[in-house]
Amino acid sequence: MNYKVFYQESISNPAKFWETEANKLDWFSKPSTILSKDDNDYPVWFKDGELNLCYLALDKHIQDGYGDEIAIIYDSPVTQTIKKYTFNQVKEEVAKLAGGLLSLGLKKGDTSVIYMPMIPEATFAMLACARIGVTHSVVFGGFAPHELAIRIDDCKPRVILTASSGIEIDRLIAYKPLVDEALELAEHKPKKVVVLNRKLGARVPFKKYDVDYHALVYGSEEAACVPLKSTHPSYILYTSGTTGKPKGIVRDTGGYATALKFSMEYIYNAKPGEVFWAASDVGWVVGHSYIAYGPLINRNTTLVFEGKPIRTPDASTFWRVIAEHKVATMFTAPTAIRAIKKEDPNGDFIKQYDLSCLRTQFLAGERCDVATLDWYTKHIPVPAIDHWWQTESGWPMIANMIGVEQLPVKPGSAGKSVCGYDIQIFSENGEELPAGEEGYVVIKLPLPPGTLMDLWKDNERFKAGYLNKFPGYYFSGDGGYKDEDGYIYITGRVDDVINVAGHRLSTAEMEEIVSSHHSVAECAVVGINDELKGQIPLALVVVKSGDSIVSFQLEYEIVHLVREQIGAVASLKNVVLVQRLPKTRSGKILRKLLRQIIDGVEYQIPSTIDDVAIIDEIVEVVKEHKIGSFK
Ligand code: COA
Ligand code: AMP
Repeated sequence: MNYKVFYQESISNPAKFWETEANKLDWFSKPSTILSKDDNDYPVWFKDGELNLCYLALDKHIQDGYGDEIAIIYDSPVTQTIKKYTFNQVKEEVAKLAGGLLSLGLKKGDTSVIYMPMIPEATFAMLACARIGVTHSVVFGGFAPHELAIRIDDCKPRVILTASSGIEIDRLIAYKPLVDEALELAEHKPKKVVVLNRKLGARVPFKKYDVDYHALVYGSEEAACVPLKSTHPSYILYTSGTTGKPKGIVRDTGGYATALKFSMEYIYNAKPGEVFWAASDVGWVVGHSYIAYGPLINRNTTLVFEGKPIRTPDASTFWRVIAEHKVATMFTAPTAIRAIKKEDPNGDFIKQYDLSCLRTQFLAGERCDVATLDWYTKHIPVPAIDHWWQTESGWPMIANMIGVEQLPVKPGSAGKSVCGYDIQIFSENGEELPAGEEGYVVIKLPLPPGTLMDLWKDNERFKAGYLNKFPGYYFSGDGGYKDEDGYIYITGRVDDVINVAGHRLSTAEMEEIVSSHHSVAECAVVGINDELKGQIPLALVVVKSGDSIVSFQLEYEIVHLVREQIGAVASLKNVVLVQRLPKTRSGKILRKLLRQIIDGVEYQIPSTIDDVAIIDEIVEVVKEHKIGSFK
């Protein structure tokens, strides 16, 4: 097939293109309206169709005769467990869990929160909710109770599903006390907390709202799949925005299923029956789309991996998993490869495994630097394909669509626009920029199926964040440029969102927390370059006049405050005291300038700066602390 022709078909007649793709799914009721619009002139896909994600992921394959094939492999180096589940086994547990949730009073249209480590039960919980039309919101296990409470208050779950503990390399993390603490902090009180006791030795305090996971599953009848409208919200996934409050991305059902099926075939080139491994976490969008729903809908075996690329037990883990389970397609973040490369620069571990099963390596979540790509392809002779997407899109927007036509890889570029995405580069005034010029990455509406429908109960923020800046276009929040051949290069966020080890975090949220410290008069948190994690946050703090707190004490307290409020995953380790922060005359902190100074890249001092002398002060301080490029 020819990429150019196929892509053009998707742009010139989106309704026809996506109707063909939607027809590849088993709908309970096929849609008669393919593409319509909501009050915001925003696309609505397959409005009157009815289907069920859990049915497509499990029951359909059993009906087609594949019930005894492996649906999920759980590989957990941290508990030294490998367990395989057939489609029949997954369906039985999921249907019983769904029956159990119904017995707790849940019904179609309710919401639930899932706060679990990387265990198969996390995917069972997602599928069980999807089975009965309960909109789930998975919260990444690395988030602290405060973050969990914010999400509970926003999506108001009727039930929380959790586990007794997770394991972070060599540290047992007791989840249940974190959930209890979040419930004390939250105003909304869910009726029940379903707790899976992993019996790993963690403290599991009992509360009146607790329900035992195993008792619930084994004491319940199997529930059937409920037909759901295409526009039924399958999940809410919170992601960082430019304020302290996370944004609840809402995903539909029919558009999502269509897009996932399409992407498994045309982007990932994954053949049903093969093993597909996305080494992420179900708490992120990659986990939703390519650990849980995508591979299962495509009848791939999916891998639930409870470990890290290094230290569980060493940098050979990824290669062991690929060889042992015959992984055909793998997906991870460049930071994972950088971590492996640091521990095993010559690829000695790689040589110990037969990786002939591996056909393609996909990379996403952050910019993939050329050195990482080169190191990978030098040691593993399969295409390493960068691709770009966001929690909002739910599936890739820029890629090398190898299931259509494998195009040459251009290092540094995430590839070309994926079918359905008319990606353009705009200037500040909304004019399309010529090849080579950097600007805002925008997408002409309509977006294809599967992308965000709205923000949960906040349509105004949805419009303000994505649609109002350039009417008729979706504003991605990323900057980038296109070359003459249509390859797109993503240069990074243009807002206050940073990307730390493939995790999306808000500096605005960190600033709110840092400012809450009693000694802090004002602060700026910026993302600076980091060799391993891509970016890490750095807090620059001005202390209240007359406050005599010493710098190491303040650093210690602020680091702890951020860990306590957001979680360790925020990775804020550096706090620097400064006399003043550079500002415009109207009082806006010049964060981009701070970032450029610390990263040692060329910068221009804006003419609107209030006092140019501050620049020299900042340079002196970062030099003294040996931070960023001044190391
Ligand atoms: N529960 C509790 N704590 C967690 C957690 C979880 N699920 N995930 C991470 N953390 C903690 C870590 O233990 C660490 O704590 P520490 O500061 O006390 O050591 C902190 O949060 C930062 O974690 P992380 O960013 O993962 O750093 P790391 O140094 O532990 O590991 C990498 C570095 C590169 C190995 C790791 O970040 C990685 O595997 N990255 C790939 C990310 C990825 O797949 N992202 C998904 C997008 S596709
Ligand atoms: P998330 O919503 O957590 O998936 O984060 C999305 C953000 O990660 C994007 O807006 C980009 O800034 C960044 N990102 C994801 N994939 C890539 C990529 N392949 N290249 C560059 N940046 C990426």
